[in-house]
Amino acid sequence: MPDINVLIAFYSRSGVTEALAKAVAEGAAKEGADVRLRRAREFVGPEVMAQAPGWQESATAMNALYAAPTAEDAAWADGIIFGTPTRFGNVSSELKAYIDTLGGLWFQGKLNGKAGSVFCSTSTPHGGNESTLLSMYAPLAHLGLIIVPTGYADAAMFKAGTPYGATSVSLNQAKLPSTEDLDAARWQGRRVALVARALKKAGMIAAA
Ligand SMILES: Cc1cc2nc3c(=O)[nH]c(=O)nc-3n(C[C@H](O)[C@H](O)[C@H](O)COP(=O)(O)O)c2cc1C
Repeated sequence: MPDINVLIAFYSRSGVTEALAKAVAEGAAKEGADVRLRRAREFVGPEVMAQAPGWQESATAMNALYAAPTAEDAAWADGIIFGTPTRFGNVSSELKAYIDTLGGLWFQGKLNGKAGSVFCSTSTPHGGNESTLLSMYAPLAHLGLIIVPTGYADAAMFKAGTPYGATSVSLNQAKLPSTEDLDAARWQGRRVALVARALKKAGMIAAA
């Protein structure tokens, strides 16, 4: 039976960040974690979604696969990994809306000492992966999570990703993450599981 729980809460409109999320999940599972993969939901109406071709169809398909993340998922987890496509160099509002639902747990100190980490995708090579990842470190710190960067702590990090978290460049959603991008994402999942296990053993993680 797995001794640690890892929540991967991501938003993805067209499947690029979803592909990274699945690789992060593989890495965490390989390290022995029980993994929950959850997709944050849209909160705009169908008339807005209809303005971007394929958005509604893609959301419907992904929502059939992944439940929406809940506060209970975050309470359950020993490690929480957030994934988002960049939005003007910052986190998507859909994922941020989920993070903002964690205020109750934050108030009770229930997230203190859990491992926290972030991953991202952009359209263009300098479109904001790093700024998005670094901007997400702020809510992680406020929530009391122990931030787990990917670093250059695995061979995969010398070929793809950033030291702040796994990334991909989708060239306007035309390109899914490469093998190297996915290896970096797997390393991220594995590393968060390893750190979460160590934090749990050390008694750092608040009781759910
Ligand atoms: C409102 C909006 C803002 C975006 N801002 C950026 C940006 O600042 N830089 C960039 O490279 N891509 C930007 N993108 C593109 C997406 O982040 C990118 O295509 C991403 O890979 C999509 O991932 P997904 O398939 O998981 O949704 C933006 C997309 C939208 C809809």
